[in-house]
Amino acid sequence: VLLEPTSLLAVSVLVLSLLWWRSTRRPPGLPPGPGPALPLLGHLHLLDKDPRPKFREWRRQYGDVFSLYMGGQLVVVLNGYHVIKEALVKNADVFSDRPYSFLNDRIDENKGLVGTSGTHWKEQRKVSLEILREMGLGKNVLAEKVQEEVTYYIKALNSFEGRPADVEEMTHKSVSNNIGSIVFGKRFEYDDPTFTHNLKCMDENIKIIGANAVINFFPWLEYLPGDLFKLKLALANVALVENQLSHPQIKAHVDTYSDGDAKDFIHAYIREIRKREESGQPTTIDEENLVKVIGDLFNAGTETTATAIRWALVFFLHNPDVQDKCYDEIQRVVGTERAPSMRDKPELTYLEATIMEVLRRANVVPFALQHGLSRDVTFHGYTIPKDAVVLPFQETALSDPEMWEEPTAFRPERFIGADGKLLKPDPFIPFGIGRRVCLGEPLARMELFLYLATMIQHFRFLPPEDGQLPSLEGILALTHSPKPFMVRAIPRE
Ligand code: HEM
Repeated sequence: VLLEPTSLLAVSVLVLSLLWWRSTRRPPGLPPGPGPALPLLGHLHLLDKDPRPKFREWRRQYGDVFSLYMGGQLVVVLNGYHVIKEALVKNADVFSDRPYSFLNDRIDENKGLVGTSGTHWKEQRKVSLEILREMGLGKNVLAEKVQEEVTYYIKALNSFEGRPADVEEMTHKSVSNNIGSIVFGKRFEYDDPTFTHNLKCMDENIKIIGANAVINFFPWLEYLPGDLFKLKLALANVALVENQLSHPQIKAHVDTYSDGDAKDFIHAYIREIRKREESGQPTTIDEENLVKVIGDLFNAGTETTATAIRWALVFFLHNPDVQDKCYDEIQRVVGTERAPSMRDKPELTYLEATIMEVLRRANVVPFALQHGLSRDVTFHGYTIPKDAVVLPFQETALSDPEMWEEPTAFRPERFIGADGKLLKPDPFIPFGIGRRVCLGEPLARMELFLYLATMIQHFRFLPPEDGQLPSLEGILALTHSPKPFMVRAIPRE
């Protein structure tokens, strides 16, 4: 039955008012937070592209556990080391899932490691960790591969002959090569066109996901004409990388497979697939998941470490005294005749403290990754429903003024005790905490050590001749990265 225009108007007003009234009411029991929420938008209109300043303000106003709506999605933000630890460690059974995410659903088809939950995730994480350990994660075997890659990186830095350069792309390529060595058993030349194009696609996807996360809250935007949120582009990029890199590599490994110790990640994963095929047990260890895990390792392991290396350069340019102290220490312990190795690590305390301070101040992954809940939970006296998205706001642990003296100052000394030994304060959690803690932490720490020790051994890093220092304000997407900057690598005598 068609309604009269006036009745139609009245019904519309009634429905809208009802929606408005409902949306302004936060159901009882939820963590406090800003209100009222707008229909459809939730609190998105209150947030800038970088939500951190607003979150800091809301933490002051509402406490360490607050909530907001992004579109219709309830988001709970955890602040401060103690609250984050209480959720992710003490209540790990509940807080260790990933929430449903439209982008993850479309891009990763809920396969792989980083975006999965429950038994699927446990199996992928266990097998991936076992393989990485077998390959020597955090030990010398892998260190030698990284050391070899560092020599190429140093050569590339040398090729600038002290002229100002933006090192973003080459750093990214070099760090990707470490993942390539682990996963495929081979590195690529920096000017290899296929490798360059594939990295560009992965990079573009990280940017697309970072800039268009809003589509997670409004999936219907996908049906707007055109590709406003670049979802089609992201899917095309994923298909390209999988078809040009992952599938051919897997096929080559399958064709030449022979049993035995892990030659590389794909080889060992295929071995695990075959073991399970023989036993007939139900499993998620299969080729489809392998393709997605390869993507996970590249995505999680490249941008993060490369960004941390670039932040180290930013802080070196701002703090030449820190750079010189690292150099003096390397001179004393290693000298100039040989490359720094992992065996030097225990003696390079100041360098290690500097790396920790870079990770603390740069805060490369300020919100960790989104966490989801395995069931409704009562936390800090609030009732949080299962479908909430949980954001551990790691910055609040890494820069809490109650835990860190002058948290905005860059001071490696804060990580060195009175006895000259390295300290590891509890709230130092740049790699997250709990069951979902970064899988690649030992690799990342090894890479940062070997790259930075060798870089400092070879060069003094200076700003361009006009003295232009890089900004300390970064760009927030999935990671927190430095704004583009130029640096001169001047060979040390
Ligand atoms: C997860 C930080 C390097 C692989 C994470 C998380 C953080 C993080 C904060 C999320 C933890 C959570 O969900 O609560 C970093 C930083 C890095 C780095 C700061 C470098 C400086 C790497 C590398 C790899 C890697 C080199 C490569 C193997 C992963 C994986 C996950 C992860 C696979 C997901 C773990 C899971 O869901 O179970 N990382 N990461 N990361 N990282 Fe890293």
